[in-house]
Parts: sequence; C-alpha cells; structure tokens
Amino acid sequence: MTGELSPIDKAKFVAAKRAAAFVEDGMRVGLGTGSTAAWLVRCLGERVREEGLSFKGVPTSTRTADLAREVGIEVITLEEARWLDLTIDGADEFDGELNLIKGGGGALLQEKIVATASDQMVVIADAAKEVETLGAFPLPVEVIRFGWTATQALLEEALVSMDVMNRDSTLRMNGDTPYLTDEGNFILDLHLTRIGDPRQMALILNQIPGIVENGLFIDICDRVVIGYADGRVETRDINAGTVEEHRMEFAEGDNLFRDI
Ligand code: 5RP
Repeated sequence: MTGELSPIDKAKFVAAKRAAAFVEDGMRVGLGTGSTAAWLVRCLGERVREEGLSFKGVPTSTRTADLAREVGIEVITLEEARWLDLTIDGADEFDGELNLIKGGGGALLQEKIVATASDQMVVIADAAKEVETLGAFPLPVEVIRFGWTATQALLEEALVSMDVMNRDSTLRMNGDTPYLTDEGNFILDLHLTRIGDPRQMALILNQIPGIVENGLFIDICDRVVIGYADGRVETRDINAGTVEEHRMEFAEGDNLFRDI
C-alpha cells in the first residue's frame, strides 16, 4: 500500500508508525486529529489487533473517535481518564523550541485541553512542517458565535500592537456556511505571515472576550517525530536535548486500509 502513497503521506506514515511504538500496555493516550494523527490511529489499531496492545484512547475530535473505534481502540472520554500518560498529535507548524501552530483541522480546543492534561505531548509531522518562525500557516482562533464580528474587531485591534507581518483575519467556511467546531464554535484564521513573539500573542489573544482558545501551543510539546519520504525518522526531545534517528521499513503488512 505504501507504494501508492505520495511522498508526503509516506513521511506522515513513518512518523506516525514510529510514535505508535511509544504507547505501552495500560496507558491512557490522547489521540490527535488530522491526516498524520489518522495514520497514528491506524498504526495503533494494528498494534491492538496484532500484538494485543491494551490501552485507552482519548480522541480530540468526533472524526478521530469514529476512526479509533473502527480500528478497535478502546475509546474513553477525558472526563473518565482525568489525566493522560501521553498525547500524540499532528501540527501545522513547529519551530526550534517545539512551539506549534495547530487547528488546521479545526480541533484546536479539544487538542489543547487533551495535550495539557498529559504527562507528555509528542508531535508527529513531515519535515515541511518545521519553520524558523511561526506564522506562515494561518493561526486558527476558536471564537464563540455570539457577537463574533465584535470579537474579530477586538482581535484585529489587538494585533496592531503585535509583532506580525500581516493582520487579516477570515471566518473559516464549510462551503456556504461557517465551519463549526465540535464545540459548536466558529474559527477565525489569522493571516499573520510571521509571529515575532508567539508566547505574548498566545497570552493576549486569550484575554479577549469571545475568544475560546488559540492555536498556539507554547511549552506544551515535549518531543517531535519528523518523518521523511524515504523512511527516515528523526525524534527530537526538547527536555533531554537529544536527537535520535531511525529508519522505518515499508512492509506489505502495513496495508492498514485493507486491515480495517
Ligand atoms: C487539527 C490539527 C492537525 O494536527 C494539523 O492541522 C495537522 O494536520 P495534518 O496532519 O493533516 O497535516 O491541528 O486541528
């Protein structure tokens, strides 16, 4: 199956496969959202079916919950789990300090709650997600529907004093209607091009009434697993300051779609 994958999907797949090995029996694990996280869920489902791996998964979206159940993972809520050993999720961008932009898939709120309720957060990504400075990817901000245009105006006013290159914001759409998050909120995408001080921005944005959460994950991620299309995987641990390299083999048995 991997022979049919695009180079970017191969990179996502090997990162996910490597990170799936971090899950151990008895763990409570946050399961991210997005195409890379979907590979992770499939890889974990394979481990459940083939190795009898026993763990509980806390999904960060209804999409991930549906897929996790489909592949045989036991799904529980964060309320039931209370605290997690590990969360593994994708990202839209990560920088050298492992600060992230997340929310391209619209699940940033549940993703941030789950990641911060975890002993460890691991990001899985293809190498194209690494940036020197965050901000080329539009920053998702989840806002309450009530008075969202007033919230947008306050937000744009706050951006005036911030170190960014552009200050446009757009309401995320799903066809002709606004995109709705799993929590029933809207998303404003901030087209900033460059975020000079992501830590300050994350704090200031969350002071604005109407903003529920922003997609900047600061000091939350512990490790990033970077996949390459040729099967190489690099794991960087920001706390230990280590970098490990592995090579993942593409095997016929990796036909995870066929197995579902
Ligand atoms: C969803 C996210 C995703 O992790 C992010 O958008 C990356 O997605 P993909 O793995 O499809 O590139 O934050 O809200």
